[in-house]
Amino acid sequence: MKILAIETSCDETAVAILEVSGPKRDPKFRVLSHIVSSQIKIHARFGGVVPNLARREHEKNLVPILMQALRDAKLESRARVSSRHSREGGNPESRDFNTRFPIKSGMAKKMQERLHSILEREPELWKHFERKLLGFGKPDIDAIAVTYGPGLAPALWVGVNFAKALNCLWDKPLIPVNHMAGHFYSALIETKKGVQAAKATYKKISFPALALLVSGAHTELVLVKKHGDFRIIGSTLDDAAGEAFDKVARMLGFGYPGGPEIARTAAFGHPESRHAGMKDREIPLRQLTDRNDKFPIKFPRPIINSRNYDFSFSGLKTAVLYFIRDTEKTHSIKKLRPAIAKEFQNAVTDVLVTKTVRAAKEFQVKTVTLGGGVAANAALRERLAAELATQLPKVPLVTPDLSMTGDNALMIALAAYFCGKKTSPDQVWADANVTL
Ligand code: KG4
Ligand code: ZN
Repeated sequence: MKILAIETSCDETAVAILEVSGPKRDPKFRVLSHIVSSQIKIHARFGGVVPNLARREHEKNLVPILMQALRDAKLESRARVSSRHSREGGNPESRDFNTRFPIKSGMAKKMQERLHSILEREPELWKHFERKLLGFGKPDIDAIAVTYGPGLAPALWVGVNFAKALNCLWDKPLIPVNHMAGHFYSALIETKKGVQAAKATYKKISFPALALLVSGAHTELVLVKKHGDFRIIGSTLDDAAGEAFDKVARMLGFGYPGGPEIARTAAFGHPESRHAGMKDREIPLRQLTDRNDKFPIKFPRPIINSRNYDFSFSGLKTAVLYFIRDTEKTHSIKKLRPAIAKEFQNAVTDVLVTKTVRAAKEFQVKTVTLGGGVAANAALRERLAAELATQLPKVPLVTPDLSMTGDNALMIALAAYFCGKKTSPDQVWADANVTL
């Protein structure tokens, strides 16, 4: 089966097409398309994601990205027929559309009206949809998966309404997917970014599993008893880990998003370093650790010893703020950036790793997985792997490819495959605050 997946929960417009074959206990995957269009540059100017700007960008991007995905997957044959018509004269789009929905019966008009009513709140998206997709033949896909939450409501609605319109036009079932389920499944596939029609390896895991999901808006420890059976055993009481990274980065004068910048600075933040400007993944892991360790800055590890599995990062963020406020009178904060970043990252990592390992022991899980934007953090990956190796050597840590840590649609396709439910479109809506 082929699953088309759409993700627009925040500031990435993403579309993926995943082909699955074989039995469910041992599926074979082929990634036919995996496109992520980031809006980071647009939001960076504002120091964070602006929901209505994100919505506008999704409206603009979705149709071209979908067309590209269908081309990648070689699923656009009917459109080619249309272009031949075009060379022969006549309007290819209306011709194809009218063949499928004959004008005489009024079906074409009715269909157009139904589609327009689905997308009436997304006028820019409707413009592209009408121009490009009405004349596009039904592609050979089996389901349309879409993120319905959690996320930014205006951004989510664009994807949800787009998926509903495709469901109406192509008569393919709709599968609403929880974004955090997507982050869980992102760890279970190994693929190559940018390689189309790439065979992807499925990392089969043993249940129960414990997932540490850390993103810009969420920090959750989730017990996963089997596919689709999620129980949140702890979450943040205030800021998410990624949010704390972003806020501290801002205090240090870095742009948005701040996580990668903090990680880089903590490791080799000096401009003259040979690693300056490199991405986390390009820096050898061993070299990420032993710098700045001697600097006597100490930030709190909030509720690290509490009996539950909740997190709290706002106190840590305030501690950094006060430290900067008190220290900038006598020292250059710019010079201290690497040390501050390092100790902040250590504090976050300590709390996340300590609670994850403790939960893994208590719930006697057979696998620990990591997911979400902050899962790109090399120090976190390394610490978690090291602690598990010493304290629970039989429990493997399964981490996502770096290209899968941020928001993407491939993880939504995977979640749809493993635990999605086909749902009638009138039962699907965006839900900004839904939990797993
Ligand atoms: O999952 P994601 O792409 O979007 C949400 O669903 O929120 O996560 C984005 C978050 C941002 O807060 C970003 O700063 C953080 O992930 N992040 C990192 C790193 N790369 C991205 N945090 C720490 N270290 C990183 N290397
Ligand atoms: Zn996310």
